[in-house]
Amino acid sequence: MGEIIVPPSLGGLTLFKYLIIFTFVIHLPFICSLMGSVLLSLGFGAFGKDQKNDTYLRLSKDLVDKTSVNLGVGILLGVLPLFTLIVMYLQLMYGARTMMSLQWLAVLGLSMVGIVFVYAYKNSFSKRDENFLVHFGIGKTAFGILALTYFVFLSNKTFILYPHNWAIVEYPIFQSFSSVNLTQFMHFMLLCIAFAGASMIFHFRLWANKEEQEENKDYYNFATKVGLYCVLVGTLLQPVVGIVDLYFLPEAAVSTVTSNLYIANVVWGMVICLSVLAALRYCGQPEKGVSTLMIFCITVLCAFMVANQLTVMVVVLISIGNIVAYLVKQTPGHITEKWIVALVFGSLALTLGSDFHTRNNSMKEHIQYLTEIAPKVVHVGNPADAGKKIYQEKCNICHTLDGTPGAAPSFLGIYGRKQIVVTNGEEREITADDEYIINSMMNPNDDVVKGFQAVMPPPNLSQEEMESVIAFMKTLKE
Ligand code: HEC
Repeated sequence: MGEIIVPPSLGGLTLFKYLIIFTFVIHLPFICSLMGSVLLSLGFGAFGKDQKNDTYLRLSKDLVDKTSVNLGVGILLGVLPLFTLIVMYLQLMYGARTMMSLQWLAVLGLSMVGIVFVYAYKNSFSKRDENFLVHFGIGKTAFGILALTYFVFLSNKTFILYPHNWAIVEYPIFQSFSSVNLTQFMHFMLLCIAFAGASMIFHFRLWANKEEQEENKDYYNFATKVGLYCVLVGTLLQPVVGIVDLYFLPEAAVSTVTSNLYIANVVWGMVICLSVLAALRYCGQPEKGVSTLMIFCITVLCAFMVANQLTVMVVVLISIGNIVAYLVKQTPGHITEKWIVALVFGSLALTLGSDFHTRNNSMKEHIQYLTEIAPKVVHVGNPADAGKKIYQEKCNICHTLDGTPGAAPSFLGIYGRKQIVVTNGEEREITADDEYIINSMMNPNDDVVKGFQAVMPPPNLSQEEMESVIAFMKTLKE
């Protein structure tokens, strides 16, 4: 896993950034509406069963039938882009330890199992009345696995923010419980609710079968309203989480552009909420809407982003704009709802933009570190481990690690230790820093530690080997 295909240059980084955004644009709406729908379906299923409410039970089934997926789509839009993302991230993180690679692979396995469970949940509706608990259990498992998948996925992504840790962190899993990652996860769950809401509006209002819609008017209106409320809740809370996220991000990750993008996110969210309120208000009057206001807001936001030189965002927005235009043309009426769907998808561009900007930023800060240190890490693994090996082969006859001086001073606490040495017959005090230790290895007789004999043979180590010995010494704290 440690091999490099694309070296970590700024050019490579930019390429990755655009590729990742592109892949995410395909993957995120899909996985969000999938997870959101399963969650809502479980909620309505449990409620419906509890209160013997047929509308809820029907919605529980429809949520999975209509707004979630079939297996083929799941693999095509869910797992494949995810796979591509993982390969790309693995490349970005080539300095990371094997543990990271395993975590990425776990994401892939979990996501497939999760999607299979969603499919099983979908099929178990035919037996819901006979065996509700099994049906519900399958659904909960499906959601649990997908949530876990995303938790691990996001924590791996968060790890990208801390490149200087890649070589030394033994258990990246702990990074998963950092504030940055928890806010990321909450952000994602809210996106799920918002996207599920948007796809409900889509399926029950915009692209619904007209005859069926007429026959079941009340039910379809109810489902649309649930969708509207989901969008409202998912959107209202998002900027809150976003701001908290901004606060916890590592300093290197934040720039003016990042902050501006977060502000744009908040403004965008407000526009969505306004339109949801309008939709609720004008329910039943499909021709009415607030499209002029929306066009104005979007134009202002686009201008804002151009000023931020985020060309890619504009490209994404223009593509989304095209989809919207198509939607608006497709069916007459329900203008407000169409805008809501479009805006929720638009928020994707903004979210991705701010997300990748932060990650990209922090990567840039560390690119120099990466090119200098990480390639060595790939070859020798952890330098301290390599140093320990050298110690065991060549030094342990004389130097101990437990503090007891034998024929030679112990290595315990050696790094940074102050001591008296004899140089050319004169005593002087030194601090055991890199320079001193390296010289002690190259010319053991230059400085002889007071109280010891000059019997150390020069170990003939390469520069790299000496550095790993020092790395090992640094781990030996008293
Ligand atoms: C034959 C015994 C012997 C072996 C083997 C040996 N050393 Fe030493 N080393 C000594 C003695 C004795 C001293 C103290 C006298 C001096 O400073 O030269 C010493 C001192 C040092 C010091 C300075 C310690 C201080 O407290 O300032 C360093 C660093 C060091 N050795 C590193 C190494 C490394 C690294 C290896 C293995 C690659 C090694 N030595 C192998 C005997 C040995």
